[in-house]
Amino acid sequence: MGFAHRHLLGIEPLSQSDITCILDLADQYVTLNRSAQKTSDVLKGLTQINMFFENSTRTQASFELAGKRLGADVMNMAMQASSIKKGETLIDTALTLNAMHPDLLVVRHPNSGAVDLLAQKVNCAVLNAGDGRHEHPTQALLDALTIRRAKGRLHRLNIAICGDIAHSRVARSNIILLGKMENRIRLIGPPTLMPSEISEFGCEVYDDMREGLKDVDVVMMLRLQKERMDGGFIPSEREYYHRFGLDADKLSHAKDDAIVMHPGPMNRGVEIDGDIADDVTRSVIQEQVEMGVAVRMAAMHLLAENAKAAARGMSSSEVMV
Ligand code: NCD
Repeated sequence: MGFAHRHLLGIEPLSQSDITCILDLADQYVTLNRSAQKTSDVLKGLTQINMFFENSTRTQASFELAGKRLGADVMNMAMQASSIKKGETLIDTALTLNAMHPDLLVVRHPNSGAVDLLAQKVNCAVLNAGDGRHEHPTQALLDALTIRRAKGRLHRLNIAICGDIAHSRVARSNIILLGKMENRIRLIGPPTLMPSEISEFGCEVYDDMREGLKDVDVVMMLRLQKERMDGGFIPSEREYYHRFGLDADKLSHAKDDAIVMHPGPMNRGVEIDGDIADDVTRSVIQEQVEMGVAVRMAAMHLLAENAKAAARGMSSSEVMV
């Protein structure tokens, strides 16, 4: 069974086998990326446009590199968050771009749902590079690949996701993905940073790090998303670090071989101690960045193949959902 989707808008529509299909192909791209000749021509002749309506360093660079390694023509559009204030403007932008016949559109937007809306207006494959608090599917996939390679499996693990769950699309996509793959997920953070719909997630919830981290295999830390906060969610950063920042003492409650993850950008001394982040025996933060390029190559490869199959005349219902 292949990957039968036209877009990658979130983890929600993906099945277990879709996820495995992307990760298996990404493993091959990890090998390619570690070789001297890092390029292939899978996307040769195709045009990839990156539209980031929100600042990004690693995700945009990662998508750009992924497209270039596969031979695509990659264009980065500098979109200022301020230039897009109305839904109408977003749709106009989408229509303008569509007229240029891109094959792959990579979109990050501050509003949840904006990328889905855009996907309805264009003819090409759309990849969500993060929309508001909603989803960030390639981040969850790269996290999954990192976990699978470090732990040798992606099921029946105890995984703690810690910190600002409420404002984090990374947390949402990871909760969905890791849940689909049958892991036990614990959410740890202050009640003010837990989403209101928390009970629907089927996760265990803790507000004490030492208790929540007990015997976990994976510790995933999150940045405090201050740009999405409109009030006082924490008393102070110092107090937050004291209670929820990952340091050696709190980490000692996890399994001895537990790995430490962070999607970046990291605030050292706020959600994580710098020494833990740099400890290569525990931290897989750099591997996450490496897996990001491979996962994005795999996702764009699969979407481009589906577009080709559709163009060959198979009805979209035969190949795609
Ligand atoms: C994340 C994001 O943008 O949601 N970063 C990323 O993509 N690497 C997490 C964050 O900004 O904290």
